[in-house]
Amino acid sequence: MLRYVTTNPGKIREAEQYLRDGSVEQLDFDYTEIQSDELGPIAAHGARQAYRRAGEPVIVDDAGMFVEALDGFPGPYSSYVEDTLGVERVWVLASDLEDRRASFRCVLAYCDGEAFDASPDPVDRVDRVAAAAAGPEADDDQEPLPVKLFEGYVPGEIVAPRGEGGFGYDPIFEHDGTTFAEMDTEQKNAISHRGRALAKFAEWFASR
Ligand code: IMP
Repeated sequence: MLRYVTTNPGKIREAEQYLRDGSVEQLDFDYTEIQSDELGPIAAHGARQAYRRAGEPVIVDDAGMFVEALDGFPGPYSSYVEDTLGVERVWVLASDLEDRRASFRCVLAYCDGEAFDASPDPVDRVDRVAAAAAGPEADDDQEPLPVKLFEGYVPGEIVAPRGEGGFGYDPIFEHDGTTFAEMDTEQKNAISHRGRALAKFAEWFASR
């Protein structure tokens, strides 16, 4: 059984739109979120930890909103920034910018303890936390668990808040003239970063 590591049952319902019904179950496991300015290593570390705990195939996702003219801020820190600054103030920051292009990104990390065949989607083979803990004298023979990564991306623009739906940065993220908060769940899922990552994963997973 495939386990989706999340505290949010809504993500399971979304995943079931791409995977066979009943083929994915929620695993409520609080993995350590490492610090990185990229989503991939964070999700990969979580997937390794969750696989070691579950002993079954797992997926872990990490997502965020990236403002281009702010070097990708808040990016992997989106959740922290939402809780501290708040989404309205991210809009205030961005409103000073001439270039307000942004994107939502999601990286889905899959680990089942086995190696992977080549495919366009990358494999994370470096356990940064273990490497840092081991220090420079470490024995390099210890292979970390490989983790396959699937990235979903949706381009857009930061705008003044509009719309009542969604969550997080949805009211200030506009795609094709509509904010994510103005879309219903079905519309948003059809184009969202998580949906795109799930679609890539599901296609690959079907042949695994
Ligand atoms: P998570 O990785 O799904 O927990 O997302 C991290 C943070 O990114 C969340 O706390 C939200 O602030 C933001 N985020 C991720 N996906 C979305 C989205 O689809 N809409 C709005 N905010 C999002």
